[in-house]
Amino acid sequence: MKPLRFILPWTHISLALAFQWPNTLLSSVNPLIGTTGGPAPGNSGGMIASVAPPFGSTRWVVQTQINHVTATPFNYTESYATNGSVHGFQGTRQPAIWMGESAWAAIVPGLTSGAPEDIITDFDARGLPKIPGTETFGVALYSVGLAFPNSGGSTVNVSMSASSRVGHLQFTFKRGSDSTLSPYLFLPTTRATTLFHTPNIFQTIFPNGTVQILPENNEICGSNTEMDDWILAPLSIKEAASHFTGWYCATFDTAFTSHGVTQGTGVSQNATSGSGEEIGAYAQFEFPANSDTLTVNVRIATSLISADQARFNFNAENSTFAIADTQVATESAWAEKLGRFQVETDGSPEADLNKTVFLTALFHAMQYPYEIDEPNPASPNSQHYYSAYDNAVHEGASYNGYSIWDTFRAEWALVLLLAPERIPSMVRSMLHDYEESGRLPMWKNMVETNIMVGTHADSLLAEAALKGFGAGGTKPNDIQPTFTTEELTTMWAAAWKDASVPPINDTAVVYSDRQEGVDFEARAGLSTSFEKTGLGAGWVADDIHSESASRTLDYSYDDFAVAVLSALIPADIVAANTPNLLQLTSQFYGNSSVSHNNVTTFLFDRAAANPWTLWNSTESAPALVTGGAILPDLCKQDKPTARPTNGFTEGDRWVYSLDFVHDMDTLIAKRGGNESFTKAMNEFFDGGWVAFTNEPSHHTPYLYSFAGAATFTQERVRQMAQENYNNTPNGLSGNEDCGQMSAWYAFSAMGFYPVNPVSGTYVVGSPFFSSLKLSIPVPPFIPPSHSSIVSNQFYNRSTNSYELTILAPNAETQPYVKSLRVNGQDWSSHSYPR
Ligand SMILES: *[C@@H]1O[C@H](CO)[C@@H](O)[C@H](O)[C@H]1NC(C)=O
Ligand SMILES: *[C@@H]1O[C@H](CO)[C@@H](O)[C@H](O)[C@H]1NC(C)=O
Ligand SMILES: *[C@@H]1O[C@H](CO)[C@@H](O)[C@H](O)[C@H]1NC(C)=O
Ligand SMILES: *[C@@H]1O[C@H](CO)[C@@H](O)[C@H](O)[C@H]1NC(C)=O
Ligand SMILES: *[C@@H]1O[C@H](CO)[C@@H](O)[C@H](O)[C@H]1NC(C)=O
Ligand SMILES: *[C@@H]1O[C@H](CO)[C@@H](O)[C@H](O)[C@H]1NC(C)=O
Ligand SMILES: *[C@@H]1O[C@H](CO)[C@@H](O)[C@H](O)[C@H]1NC(C)=O
Ligand SMILES: *[C@@H]1O[C@H](CO)[C@@H](O)[C@H](O)[C@H]1NC(C)=O
Ligand SMILES: *[C@@H]1O[C@H](CO)[C@@H](O)[C@H](O)[C@H]1NC(C)=O
Ligand SMILES: *[C@@H]1O[C@H](CO)[C@@H](O)[C@H](O)[C@H]1NC(C)=O
Ligand SMILES: *[C@@H]1O[C@H](CO)[C@@H](O)[C@H](O)[C@H]1NC(C)=O
Ligand SMILES: *[C@@H]1O[C@H](CO)[C@@H](O)[C@H](O)[C@H]1NC(C)=O
Repeated sequence: MKPLRFILPWTHISLALAFQWPNTLLSSVNPLIGTTGGPAPGNSGGMIASVAPPFGSTRWVVQTQINHVTATPFNYTESYATNGSVHGFQGTRQPAIWMGESAWAAIVPGLTSGAPEDIITDFDARGLPKIPGTETFGVALYSVGLAFPNSGGSTVNVSMSASSRVGHLQFTFKRGSDSTLSPYLFLPTTRATTLFHTPNIFQTIFPNGTVQILPENNEICGSNTEMDDWILAPLSIKEAASHFTGWYCATFDTAFTSHGVTQGTGVSQNATSGSGEEIGAYAQFEFPANSDTLTVNVRIATSLISADQARFNFNAENSTFAIADTQVATESAWAEKLGRFQVETDGSPEADLNKTVFLTALFHAMQYPYEIDEPNPASPNSQHYYSAYDNAVHEGASYNGYSIWDTFRAEWALVLLLAPERIPSMVRSMLHDYEESGRLPMWKNMVETNIMVGTHADSLLAEAALKGFGAGGTKPNDIQPTFTTEELTTMWAAAWKDASVPPINDTAVVYSDRQEGVDFEARAGLSTSFEKTGLGAGWVADDIHSESASRTLDYSYDDFAVAVLSALIPADIVAANTPNLLQLTSQFYGNSSVSHNNVTTFLFDRAAANPWTLWNSTESAPALVTGGAILPDLCKQDKPTARPTNGFTEGDRWVYSLDFVHDMDTLIAKRGGNESFTKAMNEFFDGGWVAFTNEPSHHTPYLYSFAGAATFTQERVRQMAQENYNNTPNGLSGNEDCGQMSAWYAFSAMGFYPVNPVSGTYVVGSPFFSSLKLSIPVPPFIPPSHSSIVSNQFYNRSTNSYELTILAPNAETQPYVKSLRVNGQDWSSHSYPR
């Protein structure tokens, strides 16, 4: 079997494909995939079945449990599904199960006789049983019917939709035989919440907030200082971030007949404002004199800036109270994304299930990162945003939920492909974080959280630049720069800082996972890896830093990414903004004759040299027939002690022995060549060493192809898909991690995967469908007549789109790919960069 690898040249892509409405693709999405706890938080999708547009700021979800780090607001357990209770409806910003909540809002229906104690605030007590068979989940509309116990058969039907910053809920109350009862809607505003303290200690805290009721405007506003991951904020921004506040303004289409403020379980009838811990507010309504039903629409606008900004967002996102309008707008936004695909299968029921898993993977992947900028009242059609890095409001774009250690692998490549119109803003958001804090994001959840390792924002920037976003100007086919000279300068300065400046106190602070009371982690251990003498040269010292082997390998990949970026940024910008280059190259090259002033060469050389400093070719671990394994425990001092189980991030020595995506030729050579590498790969899979629930294993099925054994890639890709994904609430074997779990599936189903994201090359696997047509509109920032478009073999002038049709007849039952043709031409003779 020949290796099958190719480059997609259509890298400048985007916006607004005319979708066909109604789009049956949307009804094929199953929002329940990946939404149960599974056996343990680490073994489940950790997703929620929420409604919001792609990349929406708040996602609205039915509350089945109290959310905090390790617990999502929604958990589709069997008991919930069959006979569960609903505790409210929450606009959440929790980006992943292992991350904290911030700036949430919520609303809960109830019935009252007018007595204060009828207003039920307690989470457990306020739960209402679902009426069997009424709950439905869609991408833009959730609905359920709830029964009020001991009310003579009263019920409420709830529909929930949302635009990016505004939740829209419709409550239709139906009175039972007890005519003394009136409906109310309660807005919990602050709550007791649970922090996750290192190591693994849960601690309850009570964030403060305010509520204000304006009965004459049918409006309730509130604020809440909860930002659970503040505890992880780097020291230098922690004080600024302590001012973080989320705001909401809920506007009702129905007049209040009464209202009040709550604190804990206490109720102050008629009060219009309150502040402090565990507060909330409610509004009461009356059934019309001639009817037993009452419909109340409420739209809950959110903001990170102020209550006034929330009101502004309310109007900016269209102030109609018809929930169908909100639903149609949000469905259209999803149809515009998912409508870029046309999938045809052999029509078998199993293939339809696969199609649902595929479309749901796209639905998951297009939720992150999510926008946190807001329309700027001072300037039409522009955005501004609150930054917790410096407690200030700035002009421009901002996004949250950068789980970059996960998403640099395939999620970012998928967003580049499917949402290119968002890329400039997502990149600018990272540059803003750098400007406001001195570092690019690593795991941004409103603030940096220092979670995971590596500075893989370098990879995001390099991949965006490589795929046509912005560096520009150096090659004939390059489009005009997306970014200004200032932005390109910032981009380069930030990436070079990652590659050249260790964190504060690097030789003393461990920077372990979730370590509190430290500053920005960046590349912890970089300073020891600079040293050219002694045994520390090139690796992160395990006697100082956690996860040292993973760090060494990840930093090498990041060096490779920064090298790629350096060649794409205009040379004058690089030349003028690369401090300490000579010092670093002198350390690295000694007095060899290699040029000391070429940063591209230096970073490529360091990326090629450093990972192998950990390689022990005498080691012969059982699973690695050809010898060669990573031994992490080499320390900076001259006392190497082998503790081969130490030093890895969400993987082990077997997984990380395959973690050389930027240097596969060397890896295969060190493993004794193609044949013995293939044999070792089979031992890796057959021996159960693959750990697909976490990201470091994701690329491994594709590695066979580098050794000319593409048949095994095809087999293993199908195997991994089958073992780790299905169309049920348990259908994700690992945490979604901001889309990476789903991005793997989306690419694999399409038939290719970005093993080395900054190579621009995809490795061909095994397409799952007979036919998949992808049509990506040319993005607005590319001039229509530009040479990069007209010369592109995938460009279709009549639709102004890039189009790719992947035909794999009988793929549903036949996993093996015999040959690859592109536009009728045999691809196997095509040369590709390694
Ligand atoms: C969901 O509930 C199950 C059963 O109570 C529990 O084991 C699991 O940890 C929960 N998962 C999440 C994500 O909260
Ligand atoms: C459903 O849950 C309610 C409240 O927890 C309980 O009283 C009832 O017995 C349950 N019904 C079934 C069929 O399990
Ligand atoms: C509530 O929804 C159910 C369908 O789930 C419907 O049969 C019923 O008529 C609705 N009730 C009201 C008051 O609209
Ligand atoms: C809430 O405010 C009270 C009174 O100002 C203060 O003592 C408490 O520490 C605050 N809680 C938090 C979590 O900041
Ligand atoms: C709240 O206002 C209503 C209407 O003015 C009044 O009847 C009721 O007594 C008030 N409740 C309290 C606790 O002040
Ligand atoms: C609001 O309506 C305007 C005018 O119809 C439209 O351009 C805009 O996209 C809508 N905004 C949202 C968030 O739906
Ligand atoms: C469904 O997908 C699996 C991979 O998850 C694949 O092995 C199988 O062939 C597919 N079946 C059909 C009928 O498409
Ligand atoms: C760095 O180390 C010094 C001395 O141990 C200590 O005072 C300082 O707080 C540390 N700074 C950070 C950010 O860790
Ligand atoms: C510098 O080069 C000379 C001649 O090649 C060599 O003998 C010497 O060891 C080198 N010194 C260093 C520090 O690399
Ligand atoms: C730096 O080296 C690269 C090859 O690694 C080369 O393409 C580039 O032209 C060199 N740049 C300069 C400024 O010499
Ligand atoms: C390499 O592995 C062998 C066998 O386990 C061990 O004896 C040797 O010390 C290791 N070498 C290094 C440099 O750690
Ligand atoms: C190993 O496989 C690769 C990919 O097919 C091929 O390019 C290379 O020539 C092979 N190496 C040898 C020594 O056969």
